[in-house]
Amino acid sequence: MKFLSVLIPLALLSSQTVHAANWYFLRWNTPSSSAQFQKFSMQMVTPTIQKAGVYYLWPGLQDTGNTGVYQEVLDGRSGTWWIGPGWCCSNPSLPWGDGFNPGNGKAVDITMTRDASGPNWTSILTSGSNSVTNKFPLSYKNFNQVMNTTQTAWCTNAPENYNNAMRYTISGAKATVSGGTTTCQIDQVVMEGPR
Ligand SMILES: *[C@@H]1O[C@H](CO)[C@@H](O)[C@H](O)[C@H]1NC(C)=O
Ligand SMILES: *[C@@H]1O[C@H](CO)[C@@H](O)[C@H](O)[C@H]1NC(C)=O
Repeated sequence: MKFLSVLIPLALLSSQTVHAANWYFLRWNTPSSSAQFQKFSMQMVTPTIQKAGVYYLWPGLQDTGNTGVYQEVLDGRSGTWWIGPGWCCSNPSLPWGDGFNPGNGKAVDITMTRDASGPNWTSILTSGSNSVTNKFPLSYKNFNQVMNTTQTAWCTNAPENYNNAMRYTISGAKATVSGGTTTCQIDQVVMEGPR
């Protein structure tokens, strides 16, 4: 099946014990593979990390061919959060972007935008005095077709909750349509924890 999706997963992986439910995500699918994202932006508030562990939290975009995820990864392995953008993981193999340590309970402003021309998407991450900008040559992945959906239900309906495994709340989902492009705005998504 072809789909284009936004993924906001919270993966809690323990190297000692790998449970079936160690992988949580919400997914919004656009109505058809010809509807393509042009921009994905958000403010992500980092959770408080209790101790070092294999914790990853990432908002990201998947392509129609399911070849990988263009994402910003919040990584808790060192016990201190690190965040940076990248394409995971091959096809093409690209160097990871720059990053920084945002700290606990901090707001990180993230914008991923397909450049108006040329091969790149641009990721900009800002938090306090930290700011990084990186370009990734991924325009050909998802966006070689026209973004002209006028459908909005994919935005305003509840997202897919993988295995119904997560407790979460969502508020203020609204869609506006202009010039054949749908803008989906969601005021807040709180990923509360495993069910
Ligand atoms: C695309 O990104 C690469 C890597 O940052 C950069 O070297 C190149 O100039 C960019 N191309 C355009 C057209 O912006
Ligand atoms: C999107 O573009 C395609 C190809 O031009 C067209 O067939 C389709 O009707 C358009 N859809 C909308 C919702 O504008």
